[in-house]
Amino acid sequence: MTPRRVTVVEVGPRDGLQNEQVIVSTADKIDFINRLSAAHLPVIEVGAFVSPKWVPQMADAAALFAGITRAPGVRYTALVPNLAGLDRAIAAGVTEIAIFASSTETFSRKNINQSIDDSLTAYKAVCERAIAAGLRVRGYLSTAFGCPFEGAVAPEQVATVAARLGDLGVFEVVISDTIGIAHPGQVPSVLDAVLRRLPADRVALHFHDTRGTALANVLASLPFGITTFDASAGGLGGCPYAPGAAGNLATDDLIYMLDGLGIETGVSLAAVSEASRFIATKIDHRIPSRYAQAWEVRNSTSNF
Ligand code: HMG
Ligand code: MG
Repeated sequence: MTPRRVTVVEVGPRDGLQNEQVIVSTADKIDFINRLSAAHLPVIEVGAFVSPKWVPQMADAAALFAGITRAPGVRYTALVPNLAGLDRAIAAGVTEIAIFASSTETFSRKNINQSIDDSLTAYKAVCERAIAAGLRVRGYLSTAFGCPFEGAVAPEQVATVAARLGDLGVFEVVISDTIGIAHPGQVPSVLDAVLRRLPADRVALHFHDTRGTALANVLASLPFGITTFDASAGGLGGCPYAPGAAGNLATDDLIYMLDGLGIETGVSLAAVSEASRFIATKIDHRIPSRYAQAWEVRNSTSNF
């Protein structure tokens, strides 16, 4: 059964820009985020209150929250790795955060320098303090379809950590394909396992597009009742601690497909596309979005 409406979570300013070689200026990031708000994206991940020694691209998270124009009804979120990050987020006026755990031990250590168990213990304290302060908490679960260090990951392992994240009080668990290795033959087995532990309305999906399968994976997920998908404008993105991870599923491409399926998102494709073309001028390579590439061809060819 295909849903009538889907929520698209825009992660470009965080997952996109954290992995760019060029450090985009705070002013340009603010301009980008304001353009994404104007495109009526319902949720925008603005940045990350992580250690600037680990991810220098995200050092200006507080300045971003101070500088953006918050559109009514839009949720602005940020990654938080620990209590220090939570304190910084609360001081910046953030009302929704995302914690991020891993399905595999090696990636957990590479990304946050902790075992899975230690991270969940630390996140329990983060969630308790955040929820007591009135914040909503999302919970990412990385390497759910494969790990750059450990290879294949058993769906039952993914489901077990997803359920433990769910027990911390997160409103949704984001099953994440960190390195863009998932394909539509695999998506059902992971979702079957996860949905035995969590209801579909507490599960979101986060696909990277390394192997060109991200849109197909969304299509394979819709019959399972999943209605929240992450994407990044222009297809920016990756993870600095996941070798070979390419950009996220491009928001432009996702909205084009959902519009075509008649699934409502409330997002303006023209405005997202404009935001993608804006951020493309601030980085040092062509953006991967296929919609953006088609737009360029159409606008440089008079009779196409
Ligand atoms: P650590 O080195 O083990 O911890 O890092 P530490 O406590 O020793 O901290 C090191 C330094 O950072 C200290 O400073 C701390 O004060 C400081 P020093 O004493 O050396 O001057 N520090 C902080 N500063 C600002 N804000 C903070 C903070 N915490 C510590 N919150 C830590 C542990 C978790 C901090 C580190 O590993 C970290 O920040 N990791 C984040 C890595 C990251 O951002 N990865 C990318 C995001 S995840 C992702 O992309 C996947 C996702 O998209 C889903 C998917 O696709 O799978 C979400
Ligand atoms: Mg990611």
